[in-house]
Amino acid sequence: MLGASVGSQWGKTGAAGFWMAEFNEVYARAGYYDIAFNRDISREVEFVFSEYQRLNGRALRSLLEIACGPGYHARAFAKKGVETFGLDLRPEMIDFARDKAKVDGIDVHWTAADMRGFTLPHPVDVIITMYDSLDCLSDNDDIVDHFRTVAANLTPGGMYLFELTHPRDCSMHGYGKYTYSGEQNGTNVDIIWAVNDPKHDAFTQVAEVETILRVVEHGKETLYRDKARERYFSPQELVALTKLAGGLNVVDCYGDFVAGLRMDNSPASRRMIFVLQKQS
Ligand SMILES: C[S@@+](CC[C@H](N)C(=O)[O-])C[C@H]1O[C@@H](n2cnc3c(N)ncnc32)[C@H](O)[C@@H]1O
Repeated sequence: MLGASVGSQWGKTGAAGFWMAEFNEVYARAGYYDIAFNRDISREVEFVFSEYQRLNGRALRSLLEIACGPGYHARAFAKKGVETFGLDLRPEMIDFARDKAKVDGIDVHWTAADMRGFTLPHPVDVIITMYDSLDCLSDNDDIVDHFRTVAANLTPGGMYLFELTHPRDCSMHGYGKYTYSGEQNGTNVDIIWAVNDPKHDAFTQVAEVETILRVVEHGKETLYRDKARERYFSPQELVALTKLAGGLNVVDCYGDFVAGLRMDNSPASRRMIFVLQKQS
């Protein structure tokens, strides 16, 4: 683990000073993040339900969303009657997610904590980490700590599903350029990712990625410049790191949230979706 940490309700948090270069300018502005990134995640939610059912022969009853940001997935599962937990490093994201859940009249247990070390009040059936959120774990110790933490917080037969960009779109060979835009009540937000044409370092597999958050509100434009370190994980390496961590087996690798669609280099395979199961 890097740097100092202070205790939170369930584990470690960076509240004393965030020690990872982490897009703090963007993630601390949860409302603007939400304008740019709010999206339909219903297909992903259905996929998680059916994968768990397939593995365990029963419906999932409890779930944790790690790096939940505004809690899109956590709130969707809670709406379907699942006991749900949401965890994110940024307290601003957690406050935003909590307010949204309150408006929807749903119950989610929220906490600001680090994905490398936390303890839930009790183990859950499913843990998910969506939308590339693992790429902040820049060295092997980070990811091993993370996998061990996940395994310790799962019920027997419990499932861990995480989603990363396909290596065609972001890898040692190239980092794509992305702009995410949205509008809400007259506020326009663009988040322009990778403005510095980043490259992954050949030894560390880490890229220094710069972004611009552009907000136009009441006719006034404000730019927030931000940066973070992002790690590229190859599919093979993720399998090896899972084995190194122990406690979890890789049971499936999918190329999209589509039953049976293999993760490979075919055009239909657009994401890296790993399904891990707690060892019995
Ligand atoms: C790309 S956003 C994804 C948010 C959300 N899951 C979504 O689908 O839009 C990544 C999130 O990871 C959180 N994060 C970054 N490092 C973290 C860590 N070490 N532990 C927990 N959360 C972390 C950030 O605060 C941010 O909210």
